[in-house]
Amino acid sequence: MKSYNIAVIPGDGSGPEMVAEGVKVLQAAAKGFGFGLNFTTLPYGGDYYLQTGEVLPEGAVAELQKYDAIFLGAIGHPEVKPGILEKGILLRLRFELDQYINLRPVKLFPGVDTPLKDKGPDDIDFVVVRENTEGLYAGSGGFLRKGTPFEVAVQESVNTRLGVERCLRYAFDYCREYGKKKKLTLCGKTNVLTYAFDLWERTFHEVGAEYPDIERDYAHVDAICMWMVKNPEQFDVIVTDNMFGDIITDLGAIIQGGMGIAAGGNINPRGTSMFEPIGGSAPRYAGQNVINPLASICAGGMMLAHLGEKAAAAAVEKAVMEICATKIQSLAAGRMGYSTSEVGDMVAERLL
Ligand code: IPM
Ligand code: MN
Repeated sequence: MKSYNIAVIPGDGSGPEMVAEGVKVLQAAAKGFGFGLNFTTLPYGGDYYLQTGEVLPEGAVAELQKYDAIFLGAIGHPEVKPGILEKGILLRLRFELDQYINLRPVKLFPGVDTPLKDKGPDDIDFVVVRENTEGLYAGSGGFLRKGTPFEVAVQESVNTRLGVERCLRYAFDYCREYGKKKKLTLCGKTNVLTYAFDLWERTFHEVGAEYPDIERDYAHVDAICMWMVKNPEQFDVIVTDNMFGDIITDLGAIIQGGMGIAAGGNINPRGTSMFEPIGGSAPRYAGQNVINPLASICAGGMMLAHLGEKAAAAAVEKAVMEICATKIQSLAAGRMGYSTSEVGDMVAERLL
């Protein structure tokens, strides 16, 4: 029997409750589809930091590298200054494990409410491929004359040919394999960011020439925001840099029903990838059994697809769609009509 070793980082706030349901569903999928999953839970997050004074212990990244995948809950603790855990855990793992793709599907399931008037599941079904290791997130820049009236703060967007090209190649390949319209839209800002997006645009067309079956489309990021609301049906796969990808995937999440369902994968195609709900740790709902675990469950489904368990992944998505269509009243915490664990149970029982 094929078997996978999964590192689980439940993290902070509602993370552990969401992850528990994700793991429950993954275990059911493993049983139902005949493969093994060995979970190892790691304590990293806000409490661990407050107790030990370190965000990740020495050797943690090297240790994580040995797993087939990482299943993450949420990072963010009310008593820890913003930035410490985000940079020290989430971004550090993305960078050091070279998870250079952040894959974020935007898919409205039947039965789920979208704030977009007159739009339904046929209209909202695309995927964002976000570059995940460079751009404004690279940490390049600094202060001059800090704390004086003449202070200067510079934050530079770092775009390497290698980083841009591997992201674009992933997006073209992804579009070829999974795209419904075989159309790849580059989301940029070529009219203002005339260095960074010049590189992106040139590389897009150079690499794109190797993919004659994929239609190439370009739009500025501001226009993309408009069209994601007005005509989301025109998108198939969108590829973009780290910062724009961060922003447009929150917009994507809300049009697919909100943070209760939005999931993503931080992918290193040749290394250890990490799957997570894309919302935060929602500490005010923690411990009440009211948070929606579907985002974590969907992240689990993405992890199965990544591991090669395609049938199990499809079954997870089907089960989630079924309970969205027939059971769950709202995706909002506390308004689902079911508790967190009941939602997990309903998905899990459909996989056995
Ligand atoms: C996300 C989050 C992170 C990001 C934060 C928590 C650092 O917003 O995964 O989209 O900006 O990438
Ligand atoms: Mn974000």
